[in-house]
Amino acid sequence: MGNLHPQLLRRLHAAVGDAGLVVDSAAKTPYESDWLGKWSGRSSIVVRPADTAQTAAVMCICHETHTPVVTQGGNTGMSGGATPDASGAQVVLSMVRMNAIRAVDPLNNTLTCEAGALLAHVQAAAQEVDRFFPLSLGSEGSCTIGGNLATNAGGIAVLRYGNARALCLGLEVVLPDGRVWHGLRALRKDNTGYDLRDLFIGSEGTLGVITAAVLKLSPRPVARATAWVGARDIQALVGLLAQLQARCGERLVAFEMISAPSLALILEHVSEVRAPLAGGHAFHALIELADTQGEGLAALLETSLEQALAEGSVQDAVLSASGAQTQALWQIREGISQAQLRAGKAIKHDIALPISAIADFVQAADAALRAQQPAVRIINFGHLGDGNLHYNVLLPLDTPAESLAQATAQCNRIVHDLVAAANGSISAEHGVGQLRRDEMRHYKSPVEFDLMMRIKQSLDPNQIMNPGKLV
Ligand code: FAD
Ligand code: MLT
Ligand code: ZN
Repeated sequence: MGNLHPQLLRRLHAAVGDAGLVVDSAAKTPYESDWLGKWSGRSSIVVRPADTAQTAAVMCICHETHTPVVTQGGNTGMSGGATPDASGAQVVLSMVRMNAIRAVDPLNNTLTCEAGALLAHVQAAAQEVDRFFPLSLGSEGSCTIGGNLATNAGGIAVLRYGNARALCLGLEVVLPDGRVWHGLRALRKDNTGYDLRDLFIGSEGTLGVITAAVLKLSPRPVARATAWVGARDIQALVGLLAQLQARCGERLVAFEMISAPSLALILEHVSEVRAPLAGGHAFHALIELADTQGEGLAALLETSLEQALAEGSVQDAVLSASGAQTQALWQIREGISQAQLRAGKAIKHDIALPISAIADFVQAADAALRAQQPAVRIINFGHLGDGNLHYNVLLPLDTPAESLAQATAQCNRIVHDLVAAANGSISAEHGVGQLRRDEMRHYKSPVEFDLMMRIKQSLDPNQIMNPGKLV
């Protein structure tokens, strides 16, 4: 066990019982490091409340005793936001036992669930009533709704449906002092003052514990058409995106970009993956249309791509002819994270840019990184339709920690300065966590940062919520 006072242990035990506590060192281990294997720490104890009342009781105790709390969902986050520090003093508050779907209302197109519900379970619960919950991430079998909302997650369907924030109507939140904000409203219009819901969404466990949410459902698409295209440069893909938006409107659901080195990485490190096109292309896109009507979708995609081929904006394209082929194409895209993990140590960037500025950014960033290190391995992929790139730099697996830290600082400055110059964001969907905390501070205006700190101070005066993360 870490540095846990016996009296604190007794009080936490009284709040959550045997089933709600993990005290054994070995049993705590999975909660103390992240999916990427990049961060690890030591918790004093892992507390797993079964309901909102237990969560409130735990927070009350932690507030009174000034005990720091790291809230954790599925622990799939990519910014180290859910990992305790090395002190052994932080309590990990795991939400995984609070996983109930509380209500589904198909007429109101809403679903109410607890924060620990897995994203995949929420998707399935929506499907059971012939509705669709569109948030979709490679980690959907393991990540939780609470984590999705706390990071304002994005994923592959933001282009059509928006990010986690856009898919949430109401929240229930346990505040740092143990009080409960009952904001589980299933309304699309509610102008009764400041928007507290949006304050907690994206707050990464620094302002309160999300215990439940009302999520927005959509009609279930019954048809989809998927294609993989190859292009000579990224500007051609940006042009194709605009063309498809004009022709297909809201039926365009996903427009994902994969650079040639990203594709090569997957082919090398993920088994059973084959290149979808014969020739070599500098950039690829995985495109998906979906509709609630069954007719004409594949034809629409085909004619749109034929036009692009005729105009020369894309070099080659293949339309998926079956569900299995569609799955195989998505497996390539979703395999990049795993391939990166196997291939080396990634300096990860999660940037957002105006889509019109992407081509210039990529050209300038590639040139600046190459000027510094001619053999640099740039793994550039992501959600081009949202202007969100994972513009990563890959170093060899055996890179010593010190060299990695130095290279990270250098690459961050090059990439993030260019992002800032283009009025972009250094944090698009993965959250700030500990990975980008200092970078965010570097680029935020003093006014914006001051406002954030005032909010933090007023909600969490004892500074117990996820210390060292985000702010
Ligand atoms: P955790 O990792 O457990 O926590 C993340 C943050 O949220 C932490 O700061 C934590 O303190 C806080 N938190 C968690 N639960 C709560 C709660 N109930 N109340 C308050 N704060 C809380 N992300 C994307 O956005 N788009 C992607 O396409 C994407 N793809 C991924 C693919 C893979 C293979 C993997 C491993 C990850 C991917 N991610 C992606 C990152 C990650 O899955 C998301 O950030 C996800 O939303 C995190 O959910 P989680 O439940 O695992 O949260
Ligand atoms: C993705 O888009 O695949 C994810 O955000 C994960 C990653 O960046 O590795
Ligand atoms: Zn992503």
